[in-house]
Amino acid sequence: MEPFSSDLIAQIATKLFREGAHTPEPSPPNRPSTPGVPMGTIRERLPTQPGVPSAPMSPSAPHSLHGISASSLPTNANVPHSLVSEAPVAVTQAAPASAGSISNFNAAPSAQQYANQQYANQQYAPSSSSPASSQFATPRRAAPMTQDGLQRFVHGVRTQAPVRRDDCLGGEPNGFATAHNGTGGIPLANSGPLNVQSVRKDFPVLNQRVHGFPLAWLDNAATTQKPQVVIDAISHFYATDNSNIHRAAHSLAARATEAYEQSRQTVAAFLGARSDKDIVFARGTTEAINLVANTYGARYLKKGDEILLSMVEHHANIVPWQMIAKRKGAEIRVIPVNDRGEIIMDEYIRLLNPRTRIVSLTHASNSLGTILPVVEMTALAKRYGARVLIDGAQSVSHMPINVQAMGCDFFVFSGHKIFAPTGIGALYITEELHDVLPPWQGGGNMIKNVTFEKTTYSEAPAKFEAGTPNIADAVGLRAALEYVQRIGLGNIAAHEHALTENATQKLAAIPGLRIIGTAKEKVSVISFVLDGHSTEEIGKALDQAGIAVRSGHHCAQPSLRRFGVETTVRPSFSIYNTHEEVDRLVEVVQRIARGNSTAKRSFF
Ligand code: ALA
Repeated sequence: MEPFSSDLIAQIATKLFREGAHTPEPSPPNRPSTPGVPMGTIRERLPTQPGVPSAPMSPSAPHSLHGISASSLPTNANVPHSLVSEAPVAVTQAAPASAGSISNFNAAPSAQQYANQQYANQQYAPSSSSPASSQFATPRRAAPMTQDGLQRFVHGVRTQAPVRRDDCLGGEPNGFATAHNGTGGIPLANSGPLNVQSVRKDFPVLNQRVHGFPLAWLDNAATTQKPQVVIDAISHFYATDNSNIHRAAHSLAARATEAYEQSRQTVAAFLGARSDKDIVFARGTTEAINLVANTYGARYLKKGDEILLSMVEHHANIVPWQMIAKRKGAEIRVIPVNDRGEIIMDEYIRLLNPRTRIVSLTHASNSLGTILPVVEMTALAKRYGARVLIDGAQSVSHMPINVQAMGCDFFVFSGHKIFAPTGIGALYITEELHDVLPPWQGGGNMIKNVTFEKTTYSEAPAKFEAGTPNIADAVGLRAALEYVQRIGLGNIAAHEHALTENATQKLAAIPGLRIIGTAKEKVSVISFVLDGHSTEEIGKALDQAGIAVRSGHHCAQPSLRRFGVETTVRPSFSIYNTHEEVDRLVEVVQRIARGNSTAKRSFF
């Protein structure tokens, strides 16, 4: 498609700007604006025929006036952006795939063709300096692992090993980080194969009995336990360095400030961010998503805009969007999943359109375990100029993350899911949004100058961190991320994969047990229901045997209702779990299935 001339774009943009008719995203401050065009005119949108993506666009293409196409002009340009709707939030849900019409996105020709084209063109390859760049030039789907492939994976070599089938699931459980799910498919530093018994010694909480049995902590999707290095880091901070930060000339303030900012640098490196300036500390995933909804959403959403969420989102990635959608008159649309719990890519492509303003996706589902193909999904969203948020709460502890390779605008995670304390998490914000996003909360730390008439704000990230932050837990977060890096995410993934595969096969063999969520690519989460037994009953019986799992709706009710259930039992595995714990889990569930839930001490 021929681009418009700069003059024509300038005329249209100036008109819209003067009329205040559109809520533009200003041109990124680091890119020159078109002469004669006011900053902040029209955000880039590249619609084509709905559902038929044309040549992919590089996510590095500027969000500026260049590249705008004829059909990209807003259709609802007369709606003031301040319009507030009191109407209920409109939600559009595509009909769930019927059993007979399951669409596996891997087989969907348009999605596959598009992905192949992306890879062929290396349109979203990261910069050549990135270690992940070569991974992204490979075909979209990495083969699931054989033992040989596992070794290669663990040692950082990609494999195209043949698929191992798991007949009980009709698919091949994978659970591995691959190029297309946003990780580059490469582990971080490895220190050799995981020694689980040695790892267990790092976690003092595991050294206890519950109801007379050794604690088996299989509730890692809810929260992870803390290694001694994290406990020590927090305690050391309070014992030696405690001070408020950024504010005083004394030595402890300097030490505390340095510790806090070092943590920001560690988070930036861990996520593959360009700079520590891209990292905002928050209480966790929930607060970070609320921050985005109340900054980006509050400024740029307008009536008729659409927010795309997947069917498998946590409530934290639904409710904040509902709240802001209601305020702004925007609409929430839901991307359906197939009977395995995988995104139906054709449906996603069909839902994308020029009104799509935000696509907010979990990287891995907390209720089903599905790993979403966030690289393709982000690239597709970018074709329509949408902003993309990836919720990494359930992915960061299982696979390497590279936000630049992913191409997302926002990435959020909670520290407590990755061996760090509760109450600390992080939000990555792409550089081009630093200056144009308004602050959310106001107060100390986020200002340059305050008078009663006017306040000027600090630059990002301080602009988004009002008040005294959670300094000690940021220090704990750094210790946790360094701990994970020392073990190596490749080793972690390999171990968790083995546990998940073992547990899946044994649980699936229990009569009356149904696993909810059988995606080909999963993190180490298994959700199940058992005929004739409530999930609460199973959770309590497991607790009586010293085994902690979550049973309930997992704060993801829509995802479970998609499968006709309200609650599941959800064991979830981490680095310190053992195959013996898997066997204990399976034995208790087998007993319940046989009608005898009394815990036996056969293992001890
Ligand atoms: N998001 C947490 C879970 O999945 C609480 O259990």
